Amino acid sequence: ATNRTFTMIKPDAVENGHIGNILAMITNAGFKIVSLKLTQLTIADAQAFYAVHAARPFYGELVEFMTRGPIVAAILEKENAVEDFRILIGATNPAEAAEGTIRKAYATSIGENAVHGSDSDENAGIEGTFHFAGREQF
Ligand code: CMP
Repeated sequence: ATNRTFTMIKPDAVENGHIGNILAMITNAGFKIVSLKLTQLTIADAQAFYAVHAARPFYGELVEFMTRGPIVAAILEKENAVEDFRILIGATNPAEAAEGTIRKAYATSIGENAVHGSDSDENAGIEGTFHFAGREQF
């Protein structure tokens, strides 16, 4: 079925000038952009967004990284969106990311890995709502 996923182009990829190329990879792969903005997470935003990782040793580093500069937030629509988008972004660790994936092209490390992709339909809804009001979802 056609459904939606949520993505962020992370601060590393924004700093490195990859917004346009990453959006092109996303739309060339058949995803329709239904919400889009440049924004910056506060510490509280990042702590809440990544609450599921609060007990992990990298949580502090993750919050610091995700708040250090602007990000692009987007909601994407496609047949099988969540699963297909995770294939398009590639493995969390860029060293393990397949050829042709966004992380293979643009991630610099396991922490600074260029893009986020929701891991389930439920989280896609939660994460999209975290960033976008209803009138911003087209
Ligand atoms: P993502 O899968 O989008 O969401 C959780 C993030 O935590 C992940 O991307 C990485 O940015 C980060 N992360 C995961 N594992 C590590 C790690 N071992 N060290 C640092 N950051 C990590």
